[in-house]
Amino acid sequence: MSIQTLEIRLSERPTGHVNSKTFVSESISLSTTLSSSSGHVLVQVDWLSIDPAMRGWLDDKRSYLKPVQIGEKMRAQGLGTVIKSSSKTIKVGDIVRGTFGWCTYAIMAEKDVEPLSLFPGVHELDFLGILGLPGLTAYFGLFDIAQIKQGETLVVSGAAGAVGSVACQLGKLKGAKVIALAGSDDKVEWLESDLGVHKALNYKSPTFIKDFKAAVGYLDVYFDNVGGRILDLCLTRLKKNARVVLCGAISDYISITPGAKRFTMYPDQKPQGLQAYLNLISQTAKIQGFLVFDYASKFDGVIREMNQWISENKLKRRFHIVEGLEKCPESMNMLFTGANIGKLVVKVSAKVSPKL
Ligand SMILES: NC(=O)c1ccc[n+]([C@@H]2O[C@H](COP(=O)([O-])OP(=O)(O)OC[C@H]3O[C@@H](n4cnc5c(N)ncnc54)[C@H](OP(=O)(O)O)[C@@H]3O)[C@@H](O)[C@H]2O)c1
Repeated sequence: MSIQTLEIRLSERPTGHVNSKTFVSESISLSTTLSSSSGHVLVQVDWLSIDPAMRGWLDDKRSYLKPVQIGEKMRAQGLGTVIKSSSKTIKVGDIVRGTFGWCTYAIMAEKDVEPLSLFPGVHELDFLGILGLPGLTAYFGLFDIAQIKQGETLVVSGAAGAVGSVACQLGKLKGAKVIALAGSDDKVEWLESDLGVHKALNYKSPTFIKDFKAAVGYLDVYFDNVGGRILDLCLTRLKKNARVVLCGAISDYISITPGAKRFTMYPDQKPQGLQAYLNLISQTAKIQGFLVFDYASKFDGVIREMNQWISENKLKRRFHIVEGLEKCPESMNMLFTGANIGKLVVKVSAKVSPKL
């Protein structure tokens, strides 16, 4: 017995944006005979997560994961429905999370998938958002690395994205004054009206720096998702003992590829490194990077806590849903043009999109 699956594989390493030559798709026949000696499951892929880090996996360079190889299926985390199982614990019909890659069906060892417990008020998609790596990243970045406290001033960049929108809300829950930075007026409107941040600013506005100084004054915590000139600006506005959390630096992800064309709203700007770092000394401030994977042993407890906040409507979420596996490559570029609001996902199967 076999099933046809569509796979998208890396065909060429891009030197800038992902383009029409970067990936190739192929329909292949997948044997559905599952090993009975060790548990395996056949999964119909329903949703795939699209994340900024995926662009880095296309570059042949040392990082926290090995690069995707030419000819290999593109790596991606997703959610799917088990349609065949030789596992004693995972049943047909179970919803599971796993690194299926860009494909319509995948055979997975049971140890590599995680069945989801769907509590009231929580949708399976939350396990790619607040209850997935983005939400956990915001939680540990803000509570463990920054140790945010009530009454402090928190600035979050990439604030209308998957991680940033959770960081803003967690900051509010902790009683911080939250200033959110994002790249469009629509995003600013969502952050202020729906998420209730104290002030949201469009960093593409010609008056941004003046607006930033007026809204922020000086900051206790900067949660950095973007790097570049916004990070530098924040370094000029540190309070005594401020903490700068290096979560991501999307403004530099493409330009750091040797010889790559820089895709940015400031095409003439080369990445320059930190200019204003001396303020870290004068303000006895800390700057620290972190990886969410290092907190894996604490995920379960935090997921339970955030689950509770979702069901109490203390944490809101928004998904940007793109339909069709074939749209995965162009979806990756949306993260770099700022086309997404909220968590970007691709719907692969015919599942009905939720109203969240
Ligand atoms: N450390 C960790 O363990 C960890 C784990 C997960 C994610 N991350 C990092 O967290 C950050 C956010 O990830 P996410 O999944 O939540 O993505 P996201 O924020 O949902 O999407 C990326 C957003 O970045 C903004 N952006 C793109 N280019 C920019 C530029 N040149 N300058 C300023 N903003 C730019 C865009 O919004 P605008 O319209 O606002 O520009 C875009 O929507 C990324 O840097 C990611 O690598 C780190």
